[in-house]
Amino acid sequence: MSRNLRGLSARRGLSEGLYEDIVGAGGSTQPAGLKNVAGKFMTGGAAVMSAGSFYDFLNPVHQGKKVYVCDGTACLTSGKQGDVRSALLKSFSEDEIGTMTCLGHCHSNDAFMVNGEVRLYETGNDPQELKPRTNADRPALIAPQGEIGDYYSLAGRWVSDLSAALGELELSGLRGRGGAGFPFHIKVRSARDAGSGQKYIVCNGDEGDPGAFSDKWLLEERPHSVLFGMLMTGLIIGADTGVIYVRGEYPLAVKRMREAVSALEEAGITGATDDNAGYRFRFHVVEGSGAYICGEETSLLNSIEGLRPEVRTRPPFPAVYGLFGMPTVLSNVETFANIHNILEAGGTHWASLGTDRSPGTKLVSLDGAFNRPGLLEVRMGTPLSVVINEMGGGTRYPVKAFQIGGPLGGLVPASKVDDLTLDFESFAGGGFLLGHAGIVSVPDDFPVIRLLEHLFEFTMKESCGKCFPCRLGSVRGYELLSHASEKGEKISRRLFDDLLETMQLGSLCALGGGLPLPVKNALRYFSDEMDGFFRKGEE
Ligand SMILES: Cc1cc2nc3c(=O)[nH]c(=O)nc-3n(C[C@H](O)[C@H](O)[C@H](O)COP(=O)(O)O)c2cc1C
Ligand code: SF4
Repeated sequence: MSRNLRGLSARRGLSEGLYEDIVGAGGSTQPAGLKNVAGKFMTGGAAVMSAGSFYDFLNPVHQGKKVYVCDGTACLTSGKQGDVRSALLKSFSEDEIGTMTCLGHCHSNDAFMVNGEVRLYETGNDPQELKPRTNADRPALIAPQGEIGDYYSLAGRWVSDLSAALGELELSGLRGRGGAGFPFHIKVRSARDAGSGQKYIVCNGDEGDPGAFSDKWLLEERPHSVLFGMLMTGLIIGADTGVIYVRGEYPLAVKRMREAVSALEEAGITGATDDNAGYRFRFHVVEGSGAYICGEETSLLNSIEGLRPEVRTRPPFPAVYGLFGMPTVLSNVETFANIHNILEAGGTHWASLGTDRSPGTKLVSLDGAFNRPGLLEVRMGTPLSVVINEMGGGTRYPVKAFQIGGPLGGLVPASKVDDLTLDFESFAGGGFLLGHAGIVSVPDDFPVIRLLEHLFEFTMKESCGKCFPCRLGSVRGYELLSHASEKGEKISRRLFDDLLETMQLGSLCALGGGLPLPVKNALRYFSDEMDGFFRKGEE
């Protein structure tokens, strides 16, 4: 069924995409409009409605609001949400204030969106400029890009020997920065070897993890490093089209990426036809409509195609069956952004910035609890204590834990900070997850159960609904925890452990499957706080 729908969507391709038509029609708020879209694409009304009713921004409740307060994890634990809301209540009624998760200002914790623009409550209408810091002698990601002609001339140096370029990527050992750390060159090789027809490059700019704003910064401030990485990957695999999917909660990033794509075409670097100079490569910027799960790669592909963005079963993996069923290299913003540096400095040099198994540098987002909040470019393998206490200047108030790597990352107790280094292996070995490396502080006086409720509620709202363990498990977990904290009902530990195991083992993707990790960390390291919520004598 989905293959048939995919085929119908593919007939019009990207320039007149089904997704854009659904969004343009107003989604499920405008059923008549959706019927027209279904007719145009010769697809069923139900299929179009099921996609149009999925996204937050196309939901009638959301559209009835005038202003949206960020309710990401960092804003929650900072305790500032209440102040922002109270201030907004002077200009808006309670009914006019909605929420968005998350606006990517975890370093200031006072963001809200009004009229499609993000504003900050404390520092005024212009989002405060982030000045990233680094402990690398030669930063790979935050270095200025300079003039675009010069910047893209590097592609010309490699275009005559694209196998050598792939060799450098392999030498670098670059691992995906979107969370899973999969070796980049393997995907590229698979897609390159997957026949010679239409292929795509897709950049995952959905950065849904509350606490992370590094992709946002790259998209806004270093758009050409992302586009260069996509272009080079496209040349290597023989793709002529790149899609950058940017979440709608990042309007400035969407704007800057569109401007960067236009600048490239105006400079004659991309968008060429056969007769012109420049690369025959076209970029499309797709703006998300508010759905965390669209960060999961297969859900993201379905979203671009205008299908309901439920997670697809894998295999087949996107490298062989990706966008519109064609071979696709889909990677994270930061992954692509490293490619210029790798091809300029050489894979071996770039690798030496990190450890053997986690080469290179990693962008790290520090939330507003830090004395020096904001963005860091950190050599992989740097002690976590250096990141937190030296580069971040420690926290402004006592903090008992750090949630690192988003809602599906681990909950690192402050007592473990000295044991970890910032790389994939150290975190996995310690029972945590580096993920996308957003660091959210949990103050001493913030109840751990409140954090767990938030995580279950987040999963409950963001679940794509395809599999039971996640769809139902997140609701049941939220109920158990909220009834325990609000009504004093005791939780059966056996039932709770069973729930976590079912979610971990039975979920189709890492939304339902990853949630148990921080929950288990919390039960293990904060048993003094959590034990009282469980029935006694039941282990
Ligand atoms: C629930 C969920 C959300 C995800 N969100 C993101 C995201 O916002 N950005 C991202 O790059 N990867 C995200 N991922 C990982 C992607 O599925 C995929 O692994 C990644 O984009 C591949 O790029 P990489 O190899 O460069 O990391 C998410 C995965 C899951 C399960
Ligand atoms: S785990 Fe959740 S988000 Fe992932 S496929 Fe299952 S229902 Fe969808």
